Amino acid sequence: MRSMTYAPADVATVSPSARAAGRLRLPGDKSISHRYAMLAALADGVSHVRGYLTGEDCLATLECLRTLGVPIRHAGNGEVEIEGRGVNGLQAPRVPLDAANSGTSMRLLAGVVAAHGFRTVLGGDESLSRRPMKRVIAPLTAMGARIASQDGRPPLTIDGARLHAITHQPEVPSAQVKSAILLAGLQAEGETTVIEPIATRDHTERAMRAFGAHVDSDNGRIRIRGGQRLRARDLTVPGDVSSATFWIALAAGTPGADIAIDGVGLNPTRTAMLEVARRSGARIDSEIDDADSGEGGEPVGRLRIRYGTPRSFAITPADVPLVIDEIPALAALGAMLPDGSEVSVHGAAELRVKESDRITCLARGFRAMGSEIEEFADGFRLTARPLTGATVDAAGDHRLAMAFALAATRAASPTTILGASSVSVSYPGFFEALERLTR
Ligand code: S3P
Repeated sequence: MRSMTYAPADVATVSPSARAAGRLRLPGDKSISHRYAMLAALADGVSHVRGYLTGEDCLATLECLRTLGVPIRHAGNGEVEIEGRGVNGLQAPRVPLDAANSGTSMRLLAGVVAAHGFRTVLGGDESLSRRPMKRVIAPLTAMGARIASQDGRPPLTIDGARLHAITHQPEVPSAQVKSAILLAGLQAEGETTVIEPIATRDHTERAMRAFGAHVDSDNGRIRIRGGQRLRARDLTVPGDVSSATFWIALAAGTPGADIAIDGVGLNPTRTAMLEVARRSGARIDSEIDDADSGEGGEPVGRLRIRYGTPRSFAITPADVPLVIDEIPALAALGAMLPDGSEVSVHGAAELRVKESDRITCLARGFRAMGSEIEEFADGFRLTARPLTGATVDAAGDHRLAMAFALAATRAASPTTILGASSVSVSYPGFFEALERLTR
């Protein structure tokens, strides 16, 4: 175990609360924000992106794009203006790009720069430097780029080239890998195909179409022809449905709760967690709002979550690729269920190579708060027990900090969360929203 000291600002204390009610909107979707920024940078003309997530991951993408010669202005109202350089039009960076904590920035930008005839060094923080990159190195190398790494881990030194099309089936279902290949494919010669036996989030395909490219999706085969141009767009990023999962878990685990969320993205490749949360007995209504959907090809709508009849539930290997980011919140929901109820997760070994080893770190935190947890190589079984306040370490992982904060509202005494400032990676304002909903 690494030992760490925490600045006071990096520690949050969450007190017990019997209430969970209110209406809110969420910060912009993390996945969609990254994609709109990168595609706007590759488009012809000036794009405006409203509702861009100002979390650290998405700010890292903007900084990397600036280093690649893309003029970007950030207006105070959360709107980002991006002056596109055209497909294959980026400039050689004078310094290494810093993807900070963001796997999406690193993997997708690797696909972008692989098609440019210059050298790019792509690095990140300590957590990102431990994450596997062979999954993008292999296909991008097959397309013609040269990529050096630290035995498959960052930093990556990418010597870009004129790429040629490939057909590739990722070894693990991954929207990041698919997207890296499609972004490279857009700038390659010929028609690139990604084969997906299990569908992953399709924001790249929808966003590419919104920016005017033709992308074919048929029966798990996604095809893009190289050499297409992109047109600048003015688009709004919907609220992040993965962030909604925290409020779903809070409402599902708090007697009498009633929470409404407006303006949230309801892309069907992201909403499997609604089904999983319903298994836990939560009452969830979701409605797509046609007036808010459309411009970026992303369905947008509202959610209402009420406390229902809590019960044990399972997350199966078939569920995992579609709820991978939501598992920490769903684990917190499990910890908030009545004494003796269980949540089990199988087929989720990928959790070990996220921002932290989410299996070990989740187990350690919830155990400290009183839950029983059995760890497996590819998941865990959590048995709910009365929660007590404790000091827990989020291991610098935003989703763990938020998961522990939810469970802390149901504990018998206050909980101290170390590494709490990590929430700003995907949900700036999380603790303020929690305060509003629970006080
Ligand atoms: C993401 C894809 C997922 C997800 C991550 C965001 C994306 O990662 O966990 O938070 O924006 O494409 P994988 O592609 O590694 O499954």
